[in-house]
Amino acid sequence: MCGIVGFTGKRQAAPILLDGLAKLEYRGYDSAGMAVSDENGKTEVVKAKGRLRALEEKTDNGLAVKGCCGIGHTRWATHGEPSEENAHPHVSDDMSVVAVHNGIIENYQEIKEKLRKKNYSFYSQTDTEAIVKLIDYYYKKYNAGPVDAIAKAMVRVRGSYALAVMFKDYPGEIYAARKDSPMIIGTENGESYLASDVPAILKHTRNVYYIGNLEMARLSPEGVEFYNIDGDIIEKKYVEIIWDAEAAEKGGFAHFMLKEIHEQPKAVADTLASAVKDGRIDLSSVGLTDEDMKGIGQIIIVACGSSYHVGMAAQYVIEDLAHIPVRVELASEFRYRTNLLKDNDLVVFISQSGETADTLAALRAVKEQGINTLAIVNVVGSSIAREADNVFYTLAGPEIAVATTKAYSTQLIVSYLLAVQLAMVRGEIDEERYSSLIAELMSLPEKMQKLLENKERIQWFAAKFANAKDIFFIGRGIDYAICLEGSLKLKEISYIHSEAYAAGELKHGTISLIEEGTLVVGVLTQKELFEKTISNMVEVKSRGAYLMGLTTYGHYSLEDTADFTVYVPQTDEHFAPSLAVIPLQLMSYYVSVAKGLDPDKPRNLAKSVTVE
Ligand code: AGP
Repeated sequence: MCGIVGFTGKRQAAPILLDGLAKLEYRGYDSAGMAVSDENGKTEVVKAKGRLRALEEKTDNGLAVKGCCGIGHTRWATHGEPSEENAHPHVSDDMSVVAVHNGIIENYQEIKEKLRKKNYSFYSQTDTEAIVKLIDYYYKKYNAGPVDAIAKAMVRVRGSYALAVMFKDYPGEIYAARKDSPMIIGTENGESYLASDVPAILKHTRNVYYIGNLEMARLSPEGVEFYNIDGDIIEKKYVEIIWDAEAAEKGGFAHFMLKEIHEQPKAVADTLASAVKDGRIDLSSVGLTDEDMKGIGQIIIVACGSSYHVGMAAQYVIEDLAHIPVRVELASEFRYRTNLLKDNDLVVFISQSGETADTLAALRAVKEQGINTLAIVNVVGSSIAREADNVFYTLAGPEIAVATTKAYSTQLIVSYLLAVQLAMVRGEIDEERYSSLIAELMSLPEKMQKLLENKERIQWFAAKFANAKDIFFIGRGIDYAICLEGSLKLKEISYIHSEAYAAGELKHGTISLIEEGTLVVGVLTQKELFEKTISNMVEVKSRGAYLMGLTTYGHYSLEDTADFTVYVPQTDEHFAPSLAVIPLQLMSYYVSVAKGLDPDKPRNLAKSVTVE
């Protein structure tokens, strides 16, 4: 959580910092701040509670703050309430050291205690102030320069951090350090940048450096130098980012979420094109050989949130097509359990950001056991992508809205591709079935596009239920996996209480919540389970529920039961989530907008959950 940016060069820093923070606001938006220093190291710190708008107003869009070197921060509170005092940057008592931080310093109380004994005092409730003052302490005690002071602090602290630090004595320079929180650095044409995520610097440079765990950097207008924790200079190569700058703008849509919903056909087509060559699935770039695939005993999928929901859908598809047992686990649970893994298991980690703390910790735990790992990740060069044995990149492009849509859809596609290829390699399907499944996959982008062209009915329906108290989603099999995602989308951006239930489980408790007029959304894309779910819908209807049915063209009998029916194009039933999820994403989006909320930045949430 939290977004950090830094800039040093020839231009005024403040407007560049604000622009970068605007691209990172999805990471946190309860307060923001910046520190800008001039060529003599004189530093001005400005902070504001609330959205970035407040900081923009306070600084006259950055024009009121002068200097060509600066750091900025947008906050998602962990330690201390959202307030100006707790907002970053944080400073040492004499302003020698000024820093912004993303992550959590776990032993900050202990550090504060130690520093209090050395006559330091603290003005905020944050963990960040502790590390800033610890750096200041080592800086003054050893007098060996910024890299040495930061390295000493890194050895002393526990937790995670992406830190950008300015020292009064080193004008024009920014020092960075990282452990388990994302940070990228770019340098071009006499200017250097740092940020938590690529969109913040994409308009300035496409060549970015990924700073590793327990590494440091010194940014100056002339370029960047990297150091290990011993203070030795280390060499790094930059990676070229192929996302274009426009992808990180709204492009005429009212919100990023709506834009990203509309980008799904392209994102899915790009992801398919990366792995389907001449009508066959080619996983050579992922590094999975046929021998690897034949030898898999069990697949364990580990993820959080929507990525976990992809795992739930993938479980049905892989088990049904490839006949490999699949377990799906929430990363936050998996990491603290005894996991009885076998040598021939494959553990798959799904993550849009590639930085989710629980998923990353689970990956590390599995790697320690020497079990083969595969990551399905969107952000190139992210921690999970770098640490897994093999990576299958989704080509969704930058996803800015907190609620995932296009990344979810591309993750689904990757799981289908894996399922189909595993089925083929292991002899579970013949050539004819293989070709027809691939042809069906290739037709998905066009079908998704058709769905997006007919969204007005959903918009109308969403407005009708904008004031609902509770909404339930029910389905069986893969449809249950779709329900989980539909329900999460709705609750996270509309704040309506919502639950997804396996339709057959309703009568074991949840049905008691159904009242007159409660909206129940039934998802029925699976022929064999259609009648069963209809029966469950009838059960809730007879208790007063208002029914929305979501099915594929052809299942017209649903209209006899549902009050409102939405159809999606026909496809192979394994791939139905890719189509059925779109009306549910649109419904959530329009409910949120009808309630006057900001769907891109739901309260209490952040895009990338880099804390436990
Ligand atoms: C979904 O809309 C949420 N933003 C959230 O559940 C998300 O999927 C989860 O935090 C996992 O993130 P990741 O894919 O980046 O690991």
